[in-house]
Amino acid sequence: MDNRAISQAVIARLPRYYRYLGDLKDSGIERISSQDLSKMMKVTASQIRQDFNNFGGFGQQGYGYNVEYLYDEIAKILGLNVRHNLVIIGAGNLGQALANYMNFERRGFIVRGIFDKNPALYGKQLRKVSVQPMENLRRFVADNDIDIAVLAIPKEAAVQTAETLVSCNIKAIWNFAHVDLNVPDNIVVENVHLSDSLMRLSYGIANM
Ligand code: NAI
Repeated sequence: MDNRAISQAVIARLPRYYRYLGDLKDSGIERISSQDLSKMMKVTASQIRQDFNNFGGFGQQGYGYNVEYLYDEIAKILGLNVRHNLVIIGAGNLGQALANYMNFERRGFIVRGIFDKNPALYGKQLRKVSVQPMENLRRFVADNDIDIAVLAIPKEAAVQTAETLVSCNIKAIWNFAHVDLNVPDNIVVENVHLSDSLMRLSYGIANM
């Protein structure tokens, strides 16, 4: 199936389905109806059925969905069935927090290298991965099958670093710097801005 035709809104909902199904699986639940999933997730059952129909439906109506099967299928759609090697650029507060967060590994995202321009950080160990100088980046990406780079550096440095990463044939950039990156279309960029979420929270409070 060509998942490129599926709307971004549907894709954006998949991680949430995946999390709920993971919890159900961990609790030993084998089957769930769209009605019960709907109650848990507070989305309509018809929304769930519509979303899943984009991928062939996944289950039989009336009989419910097989939780493990659905979990595995969504993992495949999200590309979580393959391991991703990543590097973190910037070993400051954010870079270190990301490097220390073990749950990414459970999902198959393995931190292979951490880079910074500050010599005071070289050799610092973050969960057995030591911080390296930026000069090593190009060689490291080529030698270690790195497909994702995480940008946890100031925005002033992010654009140029992204250019370097493009020239290293990186496949994807997880960008935390508050700047839009101008990279070729074949490179996937996912921007993360916690402040956007906070502003939505603020809007919610202002409109209570
Ligand atoms: P920090 O100042 O603690 O760490 C930044 C690190 O980047 C430092 O270790 C510095 O030496 C390194 N660095 C600077 N220029 C570099 C370059 N050209 N190459 C390699 N390393 C370089 O800052 P913090 O708090 O870790 O934040 C990092 C970035 O992430 C900032 O731009 C901040 O605005 C952003 N940020 C974004 C968030 C989001 O939700 N998108 C949340 C928190 C921070």
